[in-house]
Amino acid sequence: MCGIVAYIGSKEAYPIVVKGLKRLEYRGYDSAGVALMNGDLRVYKTKGKVSDLESAAKDADVSGTIGMGHTRWATHGEPNDANAHPHLSLSGKVSLIHNGIIENYATLKEGLEQRGHTFTSETDTEVLAHLIEDVMINSGLSLADAVRASLKQVVGAYAIVILSKDNPEHLIAARKGSPLVVGIGSEAGEYFFASDATPLAEYTKKVIYMKDGEIAIVENKEMTIKNIDNVVQVPYVHELEMNLEMLEKGGYDHFMLKEIYEQPRSIYDSYRGRFNAASGTFHMRSLEEYSEQLAQIKRLILIGCGTSWHAGLVAEYLFEDFARLPVEVEYASEFRYRNPVLFSDDLVMAISQSGETADTLAAMDLAKRKSATVFGVCNVVGSSIPRLSDAGAYTHAGPEIGVASTKAFTSQVTVLTLLALGIAKARKTMSDKEISKVMSALEEIPDKIEKALLLNDEIVKLAETYKDSRNFLYLGRGYNFPVALEGALKLKEISYIHAEGYPAAEMKHGPIALIDADMPVVVIATNSEHYEKVVSNIQEVKARKGKVIAVVSEGNTSLDKIVDHVIQVPETIDALSPLVNTIPLQLLSYHIAVMCGCNVDQPRNLAKSVTVE
Ligand code: G6P
Repeated sequence: MCGIVAYIGSKEAYPIVVKGLKRLEYRGYDSAGVALMNGDLRVYKTKGKVSDLESAAKDADVSGTIGMGHTRWATHGEPNDANAHPHLSLSGKVSLIHNGIIENYATLKEGLEQRGHTFTSETDTEVLAHLIEDVMINSGLSLADAVRASLKQVVGAYAIVILSKDNPEHLIAARKGSPLVVGIGSEAGEYFFASDATPLAEYTKKVIYMKDGEIAIVENKEMTIKNIDNVVQVPYVHELEMNLEMLEKGGYDHFMLKEIYEQPRSIYDSYRGRFNAASGTFHMRSLEEYSEQLAQIKRLILIGCGTSWHAGLVAEYLFEDFARLPVEVEYASEFRYRNPVLFSDDLVMAISQSGETADTLAAMDLAKRKSATVFGVCNVVGSSIPRLSDAGAYTHAGPEIGVASTKAFTSQVTVLTLLALGIAKARKTMSDKEISKVMSALEEIPDKIEKALLLNDEIVKLAETYKDSRNFLYLGRGYNFPVALEGALKLKEISYIHAEGYPAAEMKHGPIALIDADMPVVVIATNSEHYEKVVSNIQEVKARKGKVIAVVSEGNTSLDKIVDHVIQVPETIDALSPLVNTIPLQLLSYHIAVMCGCNVDQPRNLAKSVTVE
């Protein structure tokens, strides 16, 4: 959601800002804008894509070595030119871009209107631009102090960048609840700001992840970071582990396809160096440091949204099977507004690719207030979720740009497998030999996925056959019930075809009524203790003339005459089968979406990182 990029230094800001906005396109947005400082303050903005902004500013003066840009995902007010950022203050001298929501904007706006302010947009952001100028004029404060005083009046979440015509060498940025990263440039006084590190990777490896309540003030080529009470902070400078190659399509048509194909590597990166299969031992800091506490846990609550919630559902089976722990899996958005009963010996595990999902963060906050220990499983280094966690593990999948999550999901499942095994070891619910066996099976997964990816051509043909279907059903049991949910989610996210995932046996309690000759049903029927039962479910579909696409274990030809299509995938142990079985479902949704002419990497209405509730 909303992307922020800003630059201050000696280079031309516009190309840097525009390129940065393009790198952030994956977050999801509906309008774009820039503000540039070159003696004067110039703002260009438009509904639509960054390329539309480029066209709109084609003949305009875009010079200046200080600039900021924004991609907006509409919350307050429809996507149009007026609501696009940057917003200006009453005099037009203060310009502001914002990611987040100002919850008390209506009250602030009322006060400003009483003082003669009029507004040109319906946004909460414009109110803040006006407020800062109002405070400056009425209290005689400097820009930085007026920003601080204004933010003290704000309730809500924000990452903001401010430029002011009267302070032509200044750039001010602040965050609370929405992410903001600072890149330190190679020359003195050169700084980059962005919602995440992707626009910074080509310019610097030195980054600061701003903390909540911090304000960065760049003036006279120096940056000072202060807290909201004006106390100077000493930031930690991180080394960025991201390179340009990770942010490019690398010859693939879409990021999603590249990321599907990256999975042998990303899964390997998720477990690399973290265990020794021969001895059944772990080298994971969180497991080592917290082994005593982990052994004492009485209950595990897994929280997440979207695909991360599906990874939590797979983990429910893993933790129950391996660590014999009672497990609950919760949508973060529901959990945060309940009054959950939590105890100090509960472990709440938050799962997130981006580390910035607002509902997940709020759910973690609630769990902490209720004294549970909070563990984060996250992909984006330095994001808010790891910072809010008592302990955690990164998934190391690398940057995921496609909005539909693919490699992040399989990396989450991989890390959750290790955590389930690690807690099993601490709780002594599995022997070292049993643990070793699962570890060895995990080491074979990258090769098996490599093999599963060879199904691509077969799946292209399948996509051709079913691309015009308007409904799909996905069925699975046990470990593969969440895979069915994830398969259905992938299809609806990127091709806008209605799809539902169901536990195979539940089909007869509802979805069976939908089955007819036009309903493709994808059934995950790989070898497991439920196999025969799943075959019975397949028979039930076929008896009603449904079209069945069965995902079976390699070598299984017994369904060839029963179902319409068989996809054979490499076999692994049941607990790890979601990692392999997900692959053909990802490919199927990808190819159908491409054939339907959909924007695979930036599906309509969706955002990669949902920073508002
Ligand atoms: C959005 C994304 C999904 C993602 C979900 C949770 O809806 O489009 O792909 O699964 O948010 O995001 P997180 O970053 O917390 O995993």
